[in-house]
Amino acid sequence: MIITPEVKNVVALNCFPPGCKEAVQRQVDYIRSQSALKNGPKRVLILGASSGFGLASRIAAFGAGADTLGVSFERGPSEDRSGSAGWYNNLYFREIAEEHGLYAKNLVGDAFSVSMREQVLSTIKADFGGKVDLVVYSLATGVRPDPESGNLIRSVIKSVGIPYTGLTLNIEKEQLEAVTLEPATLQEIDNTIKVMGGEDWADWIELLNRHDMLADGFKTVAYSYIGPESTQAIYHKGTLGHAKKDLQYHAEMMHEWLRPLGGDAWVTVCKALVTKASVFIPGLSPYVMALFKVTKAMGLHEGCIEQMYRLFFTHLYALNGPSLDAERMIRMDDWELRDDVQSQVNQLLEKITPDNFKDLVDYQGLRQDFMQLNGFGFDNIDYEKSK
Ligand code: NAI
Ligand code: NA
Repeated sequence: MIITPEVKNVVALNCFPPGCKEAVQRQVDYIRSQSALKNGPKRVLILGASSGFGLASRIAAFGAGADTLGVSFERGPSEDRSGSAGWYNNLYFREIAEEHGLYAKNLVGDAFSVSMREQVLSTIKADFGGKVDLVVYSLATGVRPDPESGNLIRSVIKSVGIPYTGLTLNIEKEQLEAVTLEPATLQEIDNTIKVMGGEDWADWIELLNRHDMLADGFKTVAYSYIGPESTQAIYHKGTLGHAKKDLQYHAEMMHEWLRPLGGDAWVTVCKALVTKASVFIPGLSPYVMALFKVTKAMGLHEGCIEQMYRLFFTHLYALNGPSLDAERMIRMDDWELRDDVQSQVNQLLEKITPDNFKDLVDYQGLRQDFMQLNGFGFDNIDYEKSK
């Protein structure tokens, strides 16, 4: 039997575990081919460790010889379904880390919950000697239980103020379709800030500090996106952008109270990439495909692992520490936002239509990345094997 990908619009319904292993292995191979960090972290907690930027951060930390504790929300296999891709990423990463003599533990459950906080505290106490050097906050989710009432709060991806109309990719149908984002209500903006903003990040760091678990030189990062003018109505000026501004607000707060302890907190602005979370953002895909087309031609393309290695090597664990912008943010979107890149991207976006996008922009690149996130589309993997 040949296992084929099942996709509903932009959501993958299945995965191919040996391909997930290949995807993790390729990131590990990349990291091992780079120069090792000097003074890298030794004990790292990653919230959102199973895919995308969180997994790549974990692998970058592994490359520095770190023990890692990864928290994620994933589904294990059941009688009639395979588990989620992130579930297998967790397992395979741990296998590889252990082969290299490094500790890797996976905690699967809700990172917002009290019980997950308790599990993390007891693991740091038991297995990390009570201290952590780096916390990476890389959750991407649409829902969080209210810390007081327990009721579910849902984020929305909407514009703010005025509606947005554009095109978005339906991966299942391989079509660009018209999409309209309605302006969010104030309540929806608040909810999105609650789910994707900085409150939970700061709460985690405060909790670890209260338990005296922040090592000397402790660092924490959370990932943000800003993007060029052409995506701002959907992202930066929309509900998600409001949540990202709230990340920055909390980073500033933590900066004030961590510095006396020899620690620091930074928002890291990443480039646009294909992940489970990003393909879900209506209207962003034409931009991503245009960006990939231009940056690949210019030799400036990076995936999650290249971004995270560069973050660790040239910023977090660089001798002089990170270079920061005027707002104290680390800018991993520096290549994406170059004028020469954006002027070509804009030219493509002016021409893109539902009829020409497969040739005009990097449709195949986006599709391949999406398939590989779920273990499909590797030419060295045999999809005829079952399991
Ligand atoms: P992703 O979907 O690949 O990863 C999300 C992670 O969060 C997974 O490990 C998932 O299991 C975990 N997670 C979700 N809900 C959870 C919960 N309740 N408890 C525990 N774990 C949970 O997404 P991606 O793209 O790597 O996103 C990570 C961060 O990077 C987000 O803050 C996103 O906004 C940011 N970012 C993403 C960009 C992109 O283009 N993909 C660009 C710039 C920033
Ligand atoms: Na992640």
